[in-house]
Amino acid sequence: MNTLKHLAIIMDGNGRWAKERGKIRSFGHVAGAKKLVEITKHASRIGIEYLTLYSFSTENWKREKVEVDFLMKLIEKFLKQELKNLMDNNIRFKVIGDMSKTSKSLQKRVNLTIEKTKNNTGLTQILAINYGARDEIVRAINSIKKEKITEEDIQNALDTHTLPDVDLMIRTGGEQRLSNFLLWQSAYAELIFTDTYWPAFSTQELDIMIEKYQKIQRRFGGI
Ligand code: IPE
Ligand code: IPE
Ligand code: MG
Repeated sequence: MNTLKHLAIIMDGNGRWAKERGKIRSFGHVAGAKKLVEITKHASRIGIEYLTLYSFSTENWKREKVEVDFLMKLIEKFLKQELKNLMDNNIRFKVIGDMSKTSKSLQKRVNLTIEKTKNNTGLTQILAINYGARDEIVRAINSIKKEKITEEDIQNALDTHTLPDVDLMIRTGGEQRLSNFLLWQSAYAELIFTDTYWPAFSTQELDIMIEKYQKIQRRFGGI
């Protein structure tokens, strides 16, 4: 049976979920944030060590300003509300992505949450904010000051340098693509896609996916 150390989730389908209910997209994002709390708690309960969640991509700036502003504010509000929950559940918080392009108040909130939760020893929850795998790799390479760069050098310079490789990558919302998420770290990840929109995703569906993952024969190029 495969162990599941690092689970990554592309939380997609908030907008379509809202539209189907005759609501505006932001309604879906709020429901999506609630789902994130529920799934994080469940992941922590079942003993997953690292949970990385795609919250805002380097490409999401292409959206209308009102939606971008709403999402950024929502992440900040979410972090403020969640601090108690993170502490109560012994969850450590981390972030990946280029935070320098986000607002000062969000940066402050992120740093505070990292600092307050740094000694927690349970699940590590990692939010990907203004994250793009290509951007991450370029930033990593530019930070390495040597001529002959190895895989290990790049690995150690990525935002995820303290995390193990992704074991299982889940994408909700029906699309079967990675949308620039953790390209390096998912080289040997198992991929599971579902049509379920993120706000409609459930702990039951996650459990079924994990059962499926546990039975897969992971060969890593061997036999
Ligand atoms: C995912 O839901 C959340 C973010 C990308 C921030 P979407 O907003 O992409 O929802 P759809 O895919 O348009 O339904
Ligand atoms: C991926 O979803 C990014 C996040 C979930 C944050 P998108 O909705 O942005 O991806 P595309 O545009 O369908 O590839
Ligand atoms: Mg989408």
